[in-house]
Amino acid sequence: MEAIKTKGLTKRYKKLLALNNVDLTVNEGDIYGFLGPNGAGKTTTIRLILDLISPTDGKVHVFGHRVADGVAQVLPRIGSVLGNPAFYPHLSGRENLNLFRDLLPKGDHMSVEEGLQLVNLREKAGLKFSNFSAGMKRRLALASAYIKDPDLYILDEPTNGLDPKGRVEVRDAIKNLGGRGKTIFLSSHLLNEVQEVCSRVGVLKDGRLINESHVSQLLRETSGVIVTAAKETMERISDVVSELDYVNGVEISDDRAFVDCPTDKSSQILTTLAGEGIEVQEVERKERSLEDVFIELTEDKEAHDE
Ligand SMILES: Nc1ncnc2c1ncn2[C@@H]1O[C@H](COP(=O)(O)OP(=O)(O)OP(=O)(O)O)[C@@H](O)[C@H]1O
Ligand SMILES: [Mg+2]
Repeated sequence: MEAIKTKGLTKRYKKLLALNNVDLTVNEGDIYGFLGPNGAGKTTTIRLILDLISPTDGKVHVFGHRVADGVAQVLPRIGSVLGNPAFYPHLSGRENLNLFRDLLPKGDHMSVEEGLQLVNLREKAGLKFSNFSAGMKRRLALASAYIKDPDLYILDEPTNGLDPKGRVEVRDAIKNLGGRGKTIFLSSHLLNEVQEVCSRVGVLKDGRLINESHVSQLLRETSGVIVTAAKETMERISDVVSELDYVNGVEISDDRAFVDCPTDKSSQILTTLAGEGIEVQEVERKERSLEDVFIELTEDKEAHDE
C-alpha cells in the first residue's frame, strides 16, 4: 500500500504558488528523500501531509485515508519532526518526554529511556528544555518520534543543527528504522546522506515535482564509461561495445563514446577494444553522485544557456 499519496496538491499564498499540482507517491517501506532548493515547497508539502495547513487544491492520502477526513486514523501512525520542536521550556527533557508518552494513545511505545538512548541524550536529559542547545532540542524531538514508534516518520531536515557525530547517529537510526520496515519521508539538503540512506527521492523545484525515482536508477542512468578515440573508429567501437552483455547502450559524439554500463567495467572495455585491435586514447569512468544529478536537475536552464 502507499504510505503517502498526493494528487494535484497545490498551495497558494496570495500571489505565490508555493506548491503546484504535486503528485507524489511514497510506498510503504520506502526511505524517501524529499529534495529541493530553499523555498521549493518541501516544508509546505510536509505541513499539508500532516494537516497542519489546508491545500488550495488537491488531496493527500496517508495509508489510504484522506488526511483531511481521517486525521484520527492517520495521525497516531505518524511520528514527525519539524522546524523548532515545541516542548515545555520549564520542564526537563526527560519530564517533557514522560509527559509526551503519557499523552500517547494506548499501544506499543518505546520507553523514554530507550528513546533518550537512541539519540544519545540520557546524560543531559535532566536539564531544563530552555537550557538545551539547538542540537539537543532536535535530538529530543527525534526521541519523541522514536518513542511513539509510528509506522511512518516524517522528518523535515532531521540532521539540521546536529554536530557530525549526531548526524551519523541519526543516519544510522534512520537506516535501522528502514530495516525494521518503517516508512520514512525526510527532507534534506545533505545529498551524500540522502544517497546513503534513501531508496527513493522526489525533487521539488519552484513548487513542482520535477523528478521522482529510485536512487539507484537515477545514478545508474547517468553513470557509465566514456571512451575517447579517433573519430573514424567510433563506429567500430560502438559495434564492438554494443555486443557486450553488460552494456545497455552506446552514444557517440565526435571522438567520445558514452557507454551506458556499470562503471567497474571500464578496464574490461579497454581490454576488449585492445583485443579487437582498436586504439583508444582514454577510457574513463563517469561516476555520478546524487549531488551532481540534483544540481543538473535543478539548475536554471536560462542561466545555463547564456
Ligand atoms: N505561511 C506562509 N505565507 C506566505 N508564504 C509562505 C508561507 N510559508 C511558506 N511560504 C513560501 O512558500 C515557499 C515554499 O516554502 P517552504 O518553506 O515550503 O520551502 P522549503 O522547500 O521547505 O525551503 P527550505 O529548504 O528553505 O526549508 C517559499 O517561497 C516561502 O516563502
Ligand atoms: Mg523547509
